Amino acid sequence: MADSSFTEKGKQYPGKMTVFVFLACLVASSGGLIFGYDIGISGGVTSMDPFLIKFFPSVYAKEQKVVDTNQYCKFDSTLLTLFTSSLYLAALVASLFAGYITKKCGRRVSMLGGGFVFLIGAILNGLAKNVAMLIIGRIFLGIGVGFSNQSVPLYLSEMAPAKMRGMLNISFQLMITIGILAANLINYFTAKIAGGWGWRIGLGLAAVPAVIMVGGSIFLPDTPNSLVARGKVEKARAMLRRIRGTDDVALEFDDLVAASEATEAIENPWRTLMQRRYRPQLVMAFLIPTLQQLTGINVVMFYAPVLFKTIGFGGTASLMSAVITGLVNMFATFVSIATFVLGTLIATKFGTTGVAEISRPYAIGVVFCICVFVSAFAWSWGPLGWLVPSEIFPLEIRSAAQSAVVVFNMIFTFIIAQIFLMLLCHLKFGLFYFFGAWEVVMTLFVYFFLPETKRIPIEEMDRIWGKHWYWKRFVDDNNRKVQLTSTAV
Ligand code: BGC
Repeated sequence: MADSSFTEKGKQYPGKMTVFVFLACLVASSGGLIFGYDIGISGGVTSMDPFLIKFFPSVYAKEQKVVDTNQYCKFDSTLLTLFTSSLYLAALVASLFAGYITKKCGRRVSMLGGGFVFLIGAILNGLAKNVAMLIIGRIFLGIGVGFSNQSVPLYLSEMAPAKMRGMLNISFQLMITIGILAANLINYFTAKIAGGWGWRIGLGLAAVPAVIMVGGSIFLPDTPNSLVARGKVEKARAMLRRIRGTDDVALEFDDLVAASEATEAIENPWRTLMQRRYRPQLVMAFLIPTLQQLTGINVVMFYAPVLFKTIGFGGTASLMSAVITGLVNMFATFVSIATFVLGTLIATKFGTTGVAEISRPYAIGVVFCICVFVSAFAWSWGPLGWLVPSEIFPLEIRSAAQSAVVVFNMIFTFIIAQIFLMLLCHLKFGLFYFFGAWEVVMTLFVYFFLPETKRIPIEEMDRIWGKHWYWKRFVDDNNRKVQLTSTAV
């Protein structure tokens, strides 16, 4: 629901997309790599027999008896899902601390710290001797992800010139998908290593994106918005000139300073976020990440190899199919009702007993549907689930609200990671209809409640709510403590 008149009349800051910004954003978005790598690696290793035998022998024993048992339930183990989901629980808690650090010390410090803790997690996981070491490693990885997902989207949205913000921010999601695909490929090849220790390589290689992130963050500049907010006004002005490639930055700079003054008046950003006038932002901070997870995407991302094995693919075919979905995720572009088709395909074959053999064309049909579904996500809720929240919060609540986004995202990532295998066991093919129904709800929600943010400078974003048919009742323009100095239309 774009408001083009607003966009046209809205102010344009001079400046261009500079190589400097491009490189800074490229390095920062490597935070997406560490997140994506985690998402992709765990499902692969949990489908590898040597890994199961060493850490989850009871799951392995159950898997061996599969021929006439209920296929829906063969991987249903709380400990196994805890291996996947512990990371997201840790990320959730860490992002709350990250919110404070990102605000007080700058976006760069959070990225640097996050990369470092993640590196420790990768080392622990690669060397794991028992389940405890495995899960502690996952917790370290999670802390890294919490810091990085809290700070990187903000960093990207603040560095980017308004008209390029979407494109630059989406590089975060692109890096996530590259990380997932890299993990899928590594799983595929390491599973073939004789001796059955290939999973160590997979888990240990998480150190590579961590080193990129740590190394990169050492050289990254902080955003002008964050510099102003931390009182480094002249440094901020110089940085803004540098990243916009022009000396004519007065208009944008004045808005940054005004936004920062509004921030200083705020003692507790969390309590501020609860105020009525920030209701649209609060609702978005909750619903966008929550609905993103309710697409069911991580059922595919985490459990694709397990899911493929569930419906009867062999070990190598399962990992290869995960590579295919990883590829599609990276290149994708369509809108989705594929979860419904998928539910039907699985229902007609497995019914409710869960016992069946699948034919090759049928298997191809299932992989195809999952690919359509993944491409739909990659086109919509994947990137926009991180982009939209990072750009709609005014500076005074930005860091706290972005923490809330990560928290809700991780809560639902955790819940889905934790209960999916159990739900599959009980709801059977109906589980895919369950996610399909959420897809309808979220489409309606976006259509009616999310205003267009394209081309609107980030420090002017608060005005979109006052023009929206529903949100305007919450936003009283006169109510804003500090009006941005030059926002008159
Ligand atoms: C989501 C992840 C998901 C990934 C898939 C991200 O935007 O936050 O949960 O696994 O996209 O590409």
